[in-house]
Amino acid sequence: MKVTIYGSGYVGLVTGTCLAEVGNDVLCVDVDKNKIDRLNNGEIPIYEPGLEPMVTKNHQSGRLRFTTDAAEGVAHGLFQMIAVGTPPDEDGSADLQYVLAVASTIGQHMNDYRVVIDKSTVPVGTADKVRNAIQNELKARQSNLEFDVVSNPEFLKEGAAIEDFMKPDRIVIGTDNPRTAELMRALYSPFNRSHDRVIAMDVRSAELTKYASNAMLATKISFMNELANLAERLGADIEHVRIGMGSDPRIGYHFIYPGCGYGGSCFPKDVQALERTAKEADYFAELLAAVESVNNRQKHVLFNKISQHYKGDLKGKTFAIWGLSFKPNTDDMREAPSRVLMEALWEQGASVRAFDPEAMEETQRIYGNRDDLAFCSSPEEALKGCDALVTCTEWSMFRSPDFNKLKSTLNHPVIFDGRNMYDPDFLADEGFTYYGIGRGESNFK
Ligand SMILES: NC(=O)c1ccc[n+]([C@@H]2O[C@H](COP(=O)([O-])OP(=O)(O)OC[C@H]3O[C@@H](n4cnc5c(N)ncnc54)[C@H](O)[C@@H]3O)[C@@H](O)[C@H]2O)c1
Repeated sequence: MKVTIYGSGYVGLVTGTCLAEVGNDVLCVDVDKNKIDRLNNGEIPIYEPGLEPMVTKNHQSGRLRFTTDAAEGVAHGLFQMIAVGTPPDEDGSADLQYVLAVASTIGQHMNDYRVVIDKSTVPVGTADKVRNAIQNELKARQSNLEFDVVSNPEFLKEGAAIEDFMKPDRIVIGTDNPRTAELMRALYSPFNRSHDRVIAMDVRSAELTKYASNAMLATKISFMNELANLAERLGADIEHVRIGMGSDPRIGYHFIYPGCGYGGSCFPKDVQALERTAKEADYFAELLAAVESVNNRQKHVLFNKISQHYKGDLKGKTFAIWGLSFKPNTDDMREAPSRVLMEALWEQGASVRAFDPEAMEETQRIYGNRDDLAFCSSPEEALKGCDALVTCTEWSMFRSPDFNKLKSTLNHPVIFDGRNMYDPDFLADEGFTYYGIGRGESNFK
């Protein structure tokens, strides 16, 4: 099948590559010329495990092509997928300018029936706006060409995006037209072989399903962070509590890890956008507002612990930071808790020596060259001359460090563990001062 995908970011590039992998003829369109040039030269602009060889293979076979020419994109695919960004607007609502720009372009250039697919995360009602934008362009051209607009939200996780796309938990298809539902089923049939994962519904419910899922996951994290802060004050260890809670199958172990806050390109903006949607519908989404504010507070928890330890005197101190990306297995720095921490440390006159397996280039792009930020070639290198170690991202390579080496390299054996990777009792025995998240003094050994 012929598919055009607008937006070659985390979602567009993965979607395009996976659709090409199963034999489709995919054209990816992006307005970022530099990105398209890099892709045409065999360079992958993002880090996503397993993506590079798949892009290369499909690009070389001619099934996956990249262009900035939107008109070519409209001419190419029966399926026109919109996977552009929907960043937060000033008031927190989703900024739809990129989505609607693509819709207008489709309306300007289409010469045949098209299935227009909203894959970007967009508020309820966006499919109507996309339909209107296309219709307006067709009207201006005095054309009565037919098209359908489908909501097909994407649920892939950065860091496991290929696996998620190739073996999805669900394929949500929101359409009011049974014929379009069949076309969508056909497009997704290679990913739907072992059992039927298609969940068909009306457009608005599909749009809301994506926000509801992300808001639920964000709620779980903020809930655990709230409990962690409480555990700390009550002398309980949230890690014991987590395991005790998770054993209840109604709760489960997934997504109940306390930490230094959620980040990324999705949860923060999607919770905000859903709150905003609620407000526009004259409803105050109290729980969502709390999820967001608990998270904003949580992003300061590491800094507060550091500041308390040094009695507010951070000037001239140097901190090793292990992990910069908002979660492991990605180079995505959007809304990463490490940013809040580094900025607060710099503000107080402290310096950072950072190591991240994938996100240092992106961090340098964001902050440029500065005297108080050094990028190091290894986790061990980052420790040199530092007053303490701070962990912000639980990359697996950080899970079992050589604590003897760590102790002898740091100026003082102090660890602020934003992801609860280490055992407080073990570290206490080894002579470390250890701060985790929600780990009150526990007498249990
Ligand atoms: N990143 C994720 O894990 C994830 C998961 C599920 C859903 N989503 C949603 O998918 C959408 C895309 O997210 P992303 O992380 O891939 O974004 P991204 O910022 O990585 O990529 C978006 C791309 O769209 C391009 N673009 C902007 N305007 C364009 C236009 N008019 N025509 C063609 N290309 C254009 C940009 O240049 C950019 O390359 C968002 O709505 C996001 O919420 C993201």
